[in-house]
Amino acid sequence: MSDSKPVILTCAQPTGVLTIGNYLGAIKNWATMLDDYECFFGVVDLHAITVKYTPAELRKNTLSCVAQYIACGLDPERSNIFIQSHVIGHTELAWLLSCITPIGDLQRMTQFKEKAAKLGFKVADEEDANGLRFSHEGARAQASVNSGLLMYPVLMAADILLYNADAVPVGNDQRQHLELCRDLAQRFNHTYSDTFTIPEPFIPKAGARVMSLQSPDRKMSKSDENQNATLYILDDPKVLKKKIMSAVTDSGSEIVAREDKPGVSNLLQIYSAMSGREIAEIEDALQGKGYGDLKKEVADAVISVLEPVQARYHELIADKAYLESVLKSGAEAAQKRAYKVLGKVYRKAGFVERPR
Ligand code: TYM
Repeated sequence: MSDSKPVILTCAQPTGVLTIGNYLGAIKNWATMLDDYECFFGVVDLHAITVKYTPAELRKNTLSCVAQYIACGLDPERSNIFIQSHVIGHTELAWLLSCITPIGDLQRMTQFKEKAAKLGFKVADEEDANGLRFSHEGARAQASVNSGLLMYPVLMAADILLYNADAVPVGNDQRQHLELCRDLAQRFNHTYSDTFTIPEPFIPKAGARVMSLQSPDRKMSKSDENQNATLYILDDPKVLKKKIMSAVTDSGSEIVAREDKPGVSNLLQIYSAMSGREIAEIEDALQGKGYGDLKKEVADAVISVLEPVQARYHELIADKAYLESVLKSGAEAAQKRAYKVLGKVYRKAGFVERPR
């Protein structure tokens, strides 16, 4: 692999089966970048423990996520696929970055506020007389929010900066975290001297924000209480069809992507991203048809893309030796680059070099 190619780094959390949001907003696009970039694809197990989890599930989900990556088209021969905890440097760099990260910036992160709110923890919009931004709603809620949840974006910034990545392909929901990462890189460069590349976000045009099938004003997410709202890439085709056929649509019967039709717009977006056809072309083709016809076509498009992915996944997950070999070479390549950058960071920040 040539060193002169620009570097991309991106990751997903191994918190279960990937959704078609993860697929369309992220992995499908990563798979188109293999030849033009030196690619690092991480499975971020250290991020996954910021919420409640069971160790056995984490282990199973992490390996499953690796197999899902490959099944979705990430070719390990043309990219480096690694598990975050296999590479020394992510948490070390996160510590250094945390020392230049204002707490207020972390408390303002939308994802932190949403996740903390689910645990009953409210973040005040205004500082109180003591300069505190948290409004504690009872000691129990306070105790249930771990500080890792707050620090999450610092670890994410470390993931990116540890590889001096030029670009980070992500869905729209990660935009704010990426802004923080860029701020931290700039702050570090300014405080010490030029060290980090400022990474550019790569957000796809189609599929950057796949919405819930049941509440199309919300992003499709693994943690949705209503599991009919979320399509998983390993859902049985019958289940996929059933979920799509019961998707919420809008009043009227016109099949158009418009702001006042969030349900139909979401289905059209999914259809377009899965089939590669333009939305306008699909709208034309479906003129005069009903929502039931649209849903049937969306289901066919989703199933025809996911069936081969599922078949490949089942082969891969049964071949532990192959997955381990992918992870070994992925971690070696990632570690090599990570050590280089981490060494530079320590030097610039004034740490004594380790005697050789
Ligand atoms: P995660 O695991 O939630 O999602 C992985 C990728 O999928 C995208 N995505 C979506 N895109 C469109 N529509 C949706 N409904 C949807 N849901 C998820 C996400 O934008 C992401 O690209 N914090 C990150 C993981 C991470 C990371 C990193 C990413 C940790 N370190 C360094 C990039 C670089 C996350 O939770 O992604």
